[in-house]
Amino acid sequence: MTVQIRPAALDDLNLICRLRQQRASWLAARGSDQWSAEASGLPIDFFARVVDRAMAAGETWIAEVHGEPAGTITVNDRADTQLWTEAELADSLIVHYLIVDLRYAGQGVGRRLLAHAAALTQTRGRNWVRLDAWTSNTDLHTYYRRAGFRLARVAGPDRPSPSCALFERHIDDWLMDESFIDSRTDIFPMTPLGHYPTVSPAFG
Ligand SMILES: CC(C)(COP(=O)(O)OP(=O)(O)OC[C@H]1O[C@@H](n2cnc3c(N)ncnc32)[C@H](O)[C@@H]1OP(=O)(O)O)[C@@H](O)C(=O)NCCC(=O)NCCS
Repeated sequence: MTVQIRPAALDDLNLICRLRQQRASWLAARGSDQWSAEASGLPIDFFARVVDRAMAAGETWIAEVHGEPAGTITVNDRADTQLWTEAELADSLIVHYLIVDLRYAGQGVGRRLLAHAAALTQTRGRNWVRLDAWTSNTDLHTYYRRAGFRLARVAGPDRPSPSCALFERHIDDWLMDESFIDSRTDIFPMTPLGHYPTVSPAFG
C-alpha cells in the first residue's frame, strides 16, 4: 500500500478535527480516559486553534492512501513546559497529534507518519524524535515501543498534564526502516534521470 505525505492545507482543519473526534469516541468506547474532558484532554475548539496555528507554520502533515486522507501528524520543536529539558528539545523534533483514520488502522500509516517525523528531524540536523504519550494508556505505550521508541521517563509527579510518558527514538535507529527511506524520498524527491544534464565522457 502506498502512503503519500503532503503538507496540510488550511482547509484540512475540519478533517483533522473530525479525525480527533472519531478517535476520541473510539478511545472512550474502549474505556480509556485519553483525551476525555474528565482527564483534562484538550477541548476540540482549543485543539482546533492549536492545529490551525501549526498548519499556518507548515508543521502539520496529512497522510494519503490512494489520494484519500488517512491520517495526520504535527511535528515541531515545541513541547509542554517541564516535559523535556532544554538540551533535549534543542536536539529533537517533537511529534504531536498523531492520528490515523479508523478506516486505515493497522495498515502502517502511523509508522509512516512517524518515519516522516524522523526524516524531518534528520533534515534539521537533529538526533531524536520525541513525544509525550498519555500517561495511563499502557496500550498506547506498547504501540510506541513496537514502533521502536523507548520510554525515556515519566515526567512529574508535579506536572498537571495527563500526557507525561516521554518516548524517544534516535535518528540512527531509523536509517534502515523502509518507511524512513520512503519518507526521505518524499522530502527530497528523486530527480528523474532525463532531468540530469548529459555529460560526454572526457576521453577519446
Ligand atoms: C496511534 C495511531 C496513530 C496508530 O495508527 P496505526 O499505525 O494505523 O496503528 P493501529 O491504529 O492499528 O494501532 C496499533 C495498535 O495500537 C493500539 N493503539 C493505538 N493507539 C492507541 C491508544 N491511544 N489507546 C489504546 N490502544 C491504542 C491499537 O488498538 C492497535 O492495537 P491492536 O494491534 O491490538 O489492534 C492510531 O492508533 C490512533 O490514531 N490512535 C488514537 C490516537 C492516539 O492515541 N494517537 C497518539 C497520541 S500520542
